[in-house]
Amino acid sequence: MALLNILTYPDPRLNKVAKPVANIDARIRTLVADMIETMYEAKGVGLAATQVDVHERLLVMDVSEEHDEPLVVINPRVVWQSEEMVVNDEGCLSVPGFSGDVERHAEIHIEFENEIGDTHKLEATELLAVCIQHEMDHLIGKVYVEYLSPLKRGRIKTKLIKEAKEALKDNA
Ligand code: NI
Repeated sequence: MALLNILTYPDPRLNKVAKPVANIDARIRTLVADMIETMYEAKGVGLAATQVDVHERLLVMDVSEEHDEPLVVINPRVVWQSEEMVVNDEGCLSVPGFSGDVERHAEIHIEFENEIGDTHKLEATELLAVCIQHEMDHLIGKVYVEYLSPLKRGRIKTKLIKEAKEALKDNA
């Protein structure tokens, strides 16, 4: 297994739209294992393939308290979502050091394949529902900061660009 590099906002590669996973094969299973390892290492509850610069519809999540229940979601399809909305303070591994309020559906039902190609249905509420919507947004090239006010988004962008430049200098 290997740790993968997580893209940081506003990297334009985060805006790419992912294609469906065509074959759930050894390459995908390796990617899944690496993404799970990377997510745990970064102490995140979710990671979309887009964030590690792989533009295929695949995400991993773990909202369990012990961080020992990884969920692998390949080619997710939304089957149903509630009219009821909830607002949560969201963070993202691609936007380190920040969080912001985002409105999401309170409940969402999805269908997807797992890493061995079995089709699953999932009726998600609470943190899992929020996480699924956040990660599925990544797959269409959308980072949660797009829901924030232009002012707050601008502040985040400026700070992260500055940090990236400083990191480059430190490594030079
Ligand atoms: Ni994210």
